[in-house]
Amino acid sequence: MRIHALEARQFRNLENVLMEPHPRFNVLSGDNGHGKTNVLEAIYLLGTLRSFRAGKTEEMVRFGQPQASVRARVEKLQTTRLLEVNLRPGHKHGRVDGKGARAIDYFGGFNVVLFAPEDLRLPKGPPAGRRRFLDRAVWNAHPAYLGEVQTYERVHKSRNAVLRDGGANVEQMIDVYDEQLARAAVAIITRRRALLDDLAPRVRAAFDRVTQTGLTLGIAYETTLDISNIEYSMREKLTADRRKDLARGATSSGPHVDDLELVLDGKPARTYASQGQLRAIVLALKIAEIEFLREKLGDAPVLLLDDVSSELDPTRNAQLFDFLKSVPCQAFITTTHPGHVLLAEERLDFQVVAGVVGR
Ligand SMILES: Nc1ncnc2c1ncn2[C@@H]1O[C@H](COP(=O)(O)OP(=O)(O)OP(=O)(O)O)[C@@H](O)[C@H]1O
Ligand SMILES: [Mg+2]
Repeated sequence: MRIHALEARQFRNLENVLMEPHPRFNVLSGDNGHGKTNVLEAIYLLGTLRSFRAGKTEEMVRFGQPQASVRARVEKLQTTRLLEVNLRPGHKHGRVDGKGARAIDYFGGFNVVLFAPEDLRLPKGPPAGRRRFLDRAVWNAHPAYLGEVQTYERVHKSRNAVLRDGGANVEQMIDVYDEQLARAAVAIITRRRALLDDLAPRVRAAFDRVTQTGLTLGIAYETTLDISNIEYSMREKLTADRRKDLARGATSSGPHVDDLELVLDGKPARTYASQGQLRAIVLALKIAEIEFLREKLGDAPVLLLDDVSSELDPTRNAQLFDFLKSVPCQAFITTTHPGHVLLAEERLDFQVVAGVVGR
């Protein structure tokens, strides 16, 4: 996959950026706060219609401006499309080749994978980060997953509202939601587990390549549900937990609390791995994700690396760039120190100064 041209208008501090990126490596250098991550965010938005930073749509619109837009000519499997996202407060609209597209129809034409310093907290951080990692990978490979997640989230939210607010027919309403939630859970867990089946051997191999210590890294889906009959077991669990859920005003089990288990040499990586091993685990997960998507999509996703070199030790940093050189992909790499970006060839450097991107 490849971006031929990128335009961002009134997007955060980027007033009017026009870039013709290199087909391989694009290095965006600049001091803190000048807009490097904003460029990656604009590209990420084109691929996902979302920001990777929490917040509202209006926060992406440049202060004092009514609207923002990001456009790019992108190529996937020899087909070129013009993608466009327009933002106004409370309004986000994607267009493909000039035609409006519903979110669900927008996806599939362009895939991005982000590697950011936050990812380095993945093994030890809260489960939500690991679920997000899984879900992003599933969604990149299967755009229909978005609808499945939205269905689950809608029912989950409604059930929680009834748990909290009560009303006349609480028990009957929860009965209905339990049925719906159990059905919706099947799709989510099945997709995530299938992804892990694809990812696990790649993660193990990548970790081996990166560490060369003979230690093995295993990954598995962690759930309190019985995976041989998810729907039945989810219904049972919801019934068993109903009193507790009513007291809490929240649903205690389901894919929204599941986790990705990382096992280093038979022990939980969270508590057992060293700092260096934790970084190697993250690197292996990212390498596996990129390799998987490349194979699945038939074309490597565009990679967005947000200042990760400053967070990796020199050995892991060198391994990251060796890997990037080995994958036929386009990448956008931000840094405050262009020297950390260990790429000598097929590289175009851009300077980002006060929201202006120049050569
Ligand atoms: N809606 C907005 N309108 C205008 N400027 C904004 C908006 N949102 C964020 N900014 C500005 O964008 C800048 C941050 O840009 P960005 O995060 O891309 O910096 P960076 O170059 O990646 O910095 P660092 O090296 O510290 O990561 C800040 O100066 C911030 O004030
Ligand atoms: Mg940044």
